[in-house]
Amino acid sequence: MILMEHIIREGHPTLRARAEEVKFPLTEEDRKLAHDMLEYLINSQNPEIAEKYGLRSGIGLAANQINSLKRMFALHLEDDQGELLSFVAINPKIVSHSVEKTYIPSGEGCLSVDRNVPGYVPRYARITVKFWTIDGEEKKLRLKGLPAIAFQHELDHLNGVMFYDHINPENPFASVPDSFPLGD
Ligand code: NI
Repeated sequence: MILMEHIIREGHPTLRARAEEVKFPLTEEDRKLAHDMLEYLINSQNPEIAEKYGLRSGIGLAANQINSLKRMFALHLEDDQGELLSFVAINPKIVSHSVEKTYIPSGEGCLSVDRNVPGYVPRYARITVKFWTIDGEEKKLRLKGLPAIAFQHELDHLNGVMFYDHINPENPFASVPDSFPLGD
């Protein structure tokens, strides 16, 4: 199982590298990685298991963060309707997106970043995404709210981008054009 010690932290070059497309059918190793990443998120959101293993709670985890350059990430979170979204996205893409942006007023966090980095991280408010499941099934989803933000955060990881790259360096809380804060 994946523990905090397996998650690489900022400064590690793999977090700045572009992950490579995954080929189907998945190898046993790819399958295990996919399974373990989703398992980490589920465990990290279970207070007893998280405490027992010292897991920091997370809603998304990308392969780069486990020091693997494969285009896959896991998400495990509820949308604003209380609907659970729990999947591993392989070779994910944003097919289309809104012009309008959104951001989390308190900023974003990351399991690979052991410090608080305040500031608005502009994200597309609505996205249509495509990815493949572990079993090689193609999925197309429309996302908004926190799931849309989390998907963009994880997709960034596969391209070597960190959330704070998007923060305005002069004024981290400068108003974001054509945007609304998440929750409004
Ligand atoms: Ni992250």
